[in-house]
Amino acid sequence: MNASYSSNENPSPDTPTFRKPRPEDGPRVTRLIARCPPLDPNSAYCNLLQCTHFADTCILAEHPNEDELLGWISGYRIPNAPDKLFVWQVAVAETARGRGLAGRLLERLLARPGLNDVRFIVTTITPDNDASWAFFRGFAARHGYSIAERPLFEKERHFAGRHETEWELTIGPLSAVHSAPSGGNTP
Ligand SMILES: CC(C)(COP(=O)(O)OP(=O)(O)OC[C@H]1O[C@@H](n2cnc3c(N)ncnc32)[C@H](O)[C@@H]1OP(=O)(O)O)[C@@H](O)C(=O)NCCC(=O)NCCS
Repeated sequence: MNASYSSNENPSPDTPTFRKPRPEDGPRVTRLIARCPPLDPNSAYCNLLQCTHFADTCILAEHPNEDELLGWISGYRIPNAPDKLFVWQVAVAETARGRGLAGRLLERLLARPGLNDVRFIVTTITPDNDASWAFFRGFAARHGYSIAERPLFEKERHFAGRHETEWELTIGPLSAVHSAPSGGNTP
C-alpha cells in the first residue's frame, strides 16, 4: 500500500514523520543524497554538520517501518541576510516521489516557530533540473509568492566550465507567520 502524504490530524502508521535531524542521521542523509541525482553528493562530514550546527534549518521525513529516509531538506539562514532561508538541497526517495512530500517538508520547515521571521526562500537550480524548477515554481504558485530569478554562479566564471550555471531563485515575501500543516508529527 502506498503511504499517504495528505494532511491528517491523526497520522496513520503509513504517514511519514517529520523532524529535525540528529548527528546519528548523517549516514542516512548521505545515502539518500547519493540516491537522488543530479544532486551533488557532499561529504559525509558536510552532512554531519548539517545535522548538528544547521539542524534548526534542516528537516527530514522518515517512516517508522523503513530504515532509509524518505525525504530531506538542508538549509541555512544566509549569514548577512538572516531573513532569507537558503534551501541547499531537497531530496525525496524515488519510491516516495509524486505525492507532494517535498512540498510538505518545506512547509513544515517554514512552520517552525524559530523560523517565523523568515521572509524569503532562496535556492539555486541548474537550467536542466526540470523537477527542481517545477517544485519551486509550483510551491510559489500554490502559496501566491513571487519569484525573482538571476544567474548566481556562472558556468565559465565560477565553475571553470565544469558545472552548469546555477540560477538563484528568491521566493517571497512569505506571509508574516507561516502556517503549520497538520498531522505527521513534530516540527
Ligand atoms: C525534486 C523532488 C525533490 C520532488 O519531490 P516530490 O516529493 O516528488 O515533489 P512533489 O510531489 O511535491 O512535486 C512537486 C512538483 O514537481 C513536479 N515534478 C516532480 N518531478 C518532476 C520531474 N521529474 N519533472 C517535472 N516536474 C516534476 C510535480 O509535478 C509537482 O508539480 P506541481 O507542484 O505543479 O504539482 C524529487 O523529485 C527529487 O528528490 N529529485 C532528485 C533530487 C533533485 O533534483 N533535487 C532538487 C529538488 S529542489
